Amino acid sequence: MERHWWQKEVIYQIYPKSFYDSNHDGIGDIRGITEKLPYLENLGVTMLWICPVYQSPMDDNGYDVSDYRALAPEFGSLRDLDELIGEAKRRGIKIIMDLVINHSSDEHEWFQKAISEPDSKYHDYYIFKEGKKEPNNWRSVFGGSVWEKVPGRDEYYYHTFGKKQPDLNWENRELREELYDMVNWWLDKGIAGFRIDAISYIKKDLTWKDREPDGADGLAKCSKASRNQLGIEVFLKELKEKTFDRHPCVTVAEAAGVPYEKMGEFIGDQGFFDMIFDFRYADLDIASGNEWFHRISWTVKDLKDKMMKSQSVMQEYGWAANFIENHDQPRAASKYLGSDQNDANAVKMLGAMYFFLRGVPFVYQGQELGMVNFQRKSMEEFDDISSIGQYQRSLEEGFSEEAALNIVNLRSRDNSRTPFPWNDEKYGGFSETKPWIGMTEEYPAINAAAQIEKEGSVLEFYKEMIAFRQNGPYHDTLVYGDIEPLEICDHVIAYRRYREKEAILCLFNFANDEALIRLEEGEHIPVWGNLSGTEIKGNEIRLQPYQALLINERTENKKPEK
Ligand code: GLC
Ligand code: CA
Repeated sequence: MERHWWQKEVIYQIYPKSFYDSNHDGIGDIRGITEKLPYLENLGVTMLWICPVYQSPMDDNGYDVSDYRALAPEFGSLRDLDELIGEAKRRGIKIIMDLVINHSSDEHEWFQKAISEPDSKYHDYYIFKEGKKEPNNWRSVFGGSVWEKVPGRDEYYYHTFGKKQPDLNWENRELREELYDMVNWWLDKGIAGFRIDAISYIKKDLTWKDREPDGADGLAKCSKASRNQLGIEVFLKELKEKTFDRHPCVTVAEAAGVPYEKMGEFIGDQGFFDMIFDFRYADLDIASGNEWFHRISWTVKDLKDKMMKSQSVMQEYGWAANFIENHDQPRAASKYLGSDQNDANAVKMLGAMYFFLRGVPFVYQGQELGMVNFQRKSMEEFDDISSIGQYQRSLEEGFSEEAALNIVNLRSRDNSRTPFPWNDEKYGGFSETKPWIGMTEEYPAINAAAQIEKEGSVLEFYKEMIAFRQNGPYHDTLVYGDIEPLEICDHVIAYRRYREKEAILCLFNFANDEALIRLEEGEHIPVWGNLSGTEIKGNEIRLQPYQALLINERTENKKPEK
């Protein structure tokens, strides 16, 4: 693959509402990010993805935009953002923004006009259907029908997500042009690119026909008829040609459900995007990303198989976007390590396992501290609209209140949205005012101050790991090298990164037990890991419980035979 500048980035995702509150109103803000740039620079990340900060009624915390060219006042002003972009740049950190163009807020001027002036052009900027009842039985991602009645009229509008997030009608050329103008306006401001929200939903099955119900509510999940539909490629190609292609920017799309066979169209040489997130391994504990009550038991082997399959596909077509956490996912330590979530070695091993995969690593705020999920005791403690929807859905499906609460606790998007714990003071140093959402119980122990420059801390480990990838002796191989998945044993994830004559064997023991491993013939030099003093005897190595180890295989040419 031809080299691109963005392949060597390490991207840190910021959920601004919960990062740092600079003016102590309980809500994180843009100046808060600017103030914490030294922390991010010290960590070594090279790019920030900032979740939406546009003007919004915050029904879905900014993923409901009411003005694409203005910021939410609680986050700050455009001037604050310019200052952040400038200050970050001075420290060698680029910024990408979140682009939410499948839907807007119902408070967007376009939607307001669509309702108040149904004969205006804005009516066709959204999807309306006349009738006395819902036009079909599709279920929205957050639960309930995708259709919401327009008050006082026999008319419904379509929303993939919440009621306050009406979908934009991509079939309308004028609407598309307005969106492209806006995208170009942002790129002209000097941001480095976008993470593109829910983009696989922009094309719908225009027959709008009912589907086979798949739940106790009698509805059918909308994604089968509204995600990655034929014809989406026309819109995505146009979006790229009219915006991204005109700027030296990077794009990473949240494009759930893209079939692996189609990956070339999405991230190939002429792909619509540079990278897309693959959720197949992130959602290995549930039947689908938005049905949390269908829990599935899984093993390390399942994680390995899913992850390696994903890597192989991405390698075939392009470049991967690797992550174990984000603002929609539970904390990785809790999800993947279960009762060992507080074992620092295990947390480090997990971090290293995905970090050295082939692709750009994304680190979500707090992941670098080994933050864990919370246990909320009642539904009142939740903010996330998806958690509330899933609680309802779980009850409808016959789960008890207690079971439903447990399901939501395990998967709630609020798990990762708790305020960033800067120290062990009141409200974790995030704010001097009660934050908009509760802290994790663990913050007195798991916080940044307790880990900065503390030998052996998870944070220092992440810092070292980032430096090792970015500036270490094996930089070229660890960034640009190919990946070869290896089968060692069920609870060890192993792969090889190789390039020309260099090969780095990467081993991750997911068991809290030793693992005896037989290596191939040749010279093996341990170069990096989460434990010191590893001895390799002959071709045998005893991996310690939760050990992560990178080995330089000084063999002539490790390129596997095709
Ligand atoms: C994406 C976002 C999520 C949001 C949804 C609707 O999945 O990551 O947070 O709720 O889109 O915009
Ligand atoms: Ca604030």
